[in-house]
Amino acid sequence: MAETIADLRSAPRSAAYAELSGQVKAVLEGIDDPIAGMATISALLHGALGFLWTGFYRVVVPGKRLLIGPYQGSLGCLEITFGKGVCGTAAAEKRTVIVDDVNQFPGHIACDARSQSEIVVPVFGQSGELIAVLDIDSEHLAAFSEEDRAGLEEIVQWFRTAPSR
Ligand code: SME
Repeated sequence: MAETIADLRSAPRSAAYAELSGQVKAVLEGIDDPIAGMATISALLHGALGFLWTGFYRVVVPGKRLLIGPYQGSLGCLEITFGKGVCGTAAAEKRTVIVDDVNQFPGHIACDARSQSEIVVPVFGQSGELIAVLDIDSEHLAAFSEEDRAGLEEIVQWFRTAPSR
């Protein structure tokens, strides 16, 4: 494998996600392991888009507890309870949450004081069950839009459609 991670920071976001989606499928061809998928997708997104923190929290007790998964960036908090913080809210409600200013989000969990805005996308497995959330943090306010939602929701489809495991 000789893939390099393109720098897509100045590309239009929808074009960046289209390219990244293709890369995810190419790099993970023949792989069916969700942790390998999380590690690879974290590295691709983080390297290409250059956000502060990019990674996954895995569902270890459905409806109750998230635990840190593969990520890139500064040290992440280890455990998050469903319903707490942005990640726990996205997990409990099984929907993407975009926060323009984390300081205005009640219960926001500050793993890195530089974080100003955040997007958290639910990740579903092959049976449609929630297996994780994908969390991306930015040091800028309002860094994420509907384009990010659409692009990231498309990328995490890999976990639903990867070969059987
Ligand atoms: N800010 C998140 C916690 C995870 S860290 O940002 C990596 C939250 O409020 O859920």
